[in-house]
Amino acid sequence: MKGVRIVGFGHYCPENIVTNKDLENIVDTSDDWIIKRTGIKERRISNGEGTVELAYKAALEALKNCNLSSEDIDLIIVSTISPDRMMPSTACSVQGLLGCNNAAAFDLSAACSGFVYSILTASSLLKATDKKRALVIGAETLSKIIDWSDRSTCVLFGDGAGAAILEVSDEEDGIISTCFYADGKQGETSLVAGELELNTPFAKEAMAENMYMTMNGREVFRFAVTVLPSIVNELLEKAGESIENIKYIVPHQANYRIISEASRRLRVKDDKFYVNVDKYGNTSGASVPIALSELLEKGLIKRGDKIILAAFGGGLTWAGALIKL
Ligand SMILES: CC(C)(COP(=O)(O)OP(=O)(O)OC[C@H]1O[C@@H](n2cnc3c(N)ncnc32)[C@H](O)[C@@H]1OP(=O)(O)O)[C@@H](O)C(=O)NCCC(=O)NCCS
Repeated sequence: MKGVRIVGFGHYCPENIVTNKDLENIVDTSDDWIIKRTGIKERRISNGEGTVELAYKAALEALKNCNLSSEDIDLIIVSTISPDRMMPSTACSVQGLLGCNNAAAFDLSAACSGFVYSILTASSLLKATDKKRALVIGAETLSKIIDWSDRSTCVLFGDGAGAAILEVSDEEDGIISTCFYADGKQGETSLVAGELELNTPFAKEAMAENMYMTMNGREVFRFAVTVLPSIVNELLEKAGESIENIKYIVPHQANYRIISEASRRLRVKDDKFYVNVDKYGNTSGASVPIALSELLEKGLIKRGDKIILAAFGGGLTWAGALIKL
């Protein structure tokens, strides 16, 4: 049985910083409210770069950090819910820009759990086929599906991209335990965006209502604080591992209160969780790989460390992986 290791990360976020104070000029909100309820201080919002460009720049960073060239990549998966176009896929556009001529490429849609879903998909494909290296990217320009007049959602989200490179290895498998789930019924009522209109000569009436993000904040909050600790417990149990041996839990960065409540339920200190939601807000599929890339950049994780990735979001979906780097 082949093993798979994650050998490197990279990230790229738009330079344009939008602070809570900036949002006070757009909607009836306050810096104090946003910080108290979410922990978010600022987010990056694109002023021109699309999802493809963010994904491409994050991929370049990841390749550089691993001393790999585009020809070394055999598979590209991009997790996004905010593509620039329906077709070609973001992954194909990135493949073309990078010149990864050997790589198959496709997008995966699982909202904020999408990067973890993509890691599981890529590692399974590497084990099952003759592909040797995968580039997995989470990239979002959520700013284009946000209703900037809705204070209950527009303060929460941001744009960005993160990337990881997975490689077939002769060593033991780096993906130690995994889980992934969905609840489509609850997803219909709690988190919806990007509905396309059925506007044809054959349709009696236009049906699209939710082009922009709509969310039942309390319902999503309850869901998140339940699944985040349960993902961690399931991964540890499946791996026969104890939390003390985990260097960091890297959660989806939705809200500091969700992370703090999860750490209380797991009886671990807050600093077991890596948090950067204060700087980027919720970047959906990009949040986990941006956090991973930052951890590596800061020298807080190294080869051999065990970490847990835990994500949850639209769909509803939730997923996790216990990884040895
Ligand atoms: C969105 C969230 C921060 C709201 O916090 P909350 O404590 O549940 O707040 P409520 O929705 O109950 O609203 C409380 C009050 O604040 C108001 N409010 C909402 N957004 C506001 C904002 N940006 N600024 C100021 N006031 C705001 C509400 O209108 C409400 O006012 P009212 O009491 O006069 O009706 C919280 O529900 C949450 O984090 N949910 C999860 C969201 C998430 O992470 N989604 C993505 C998951 S991947």
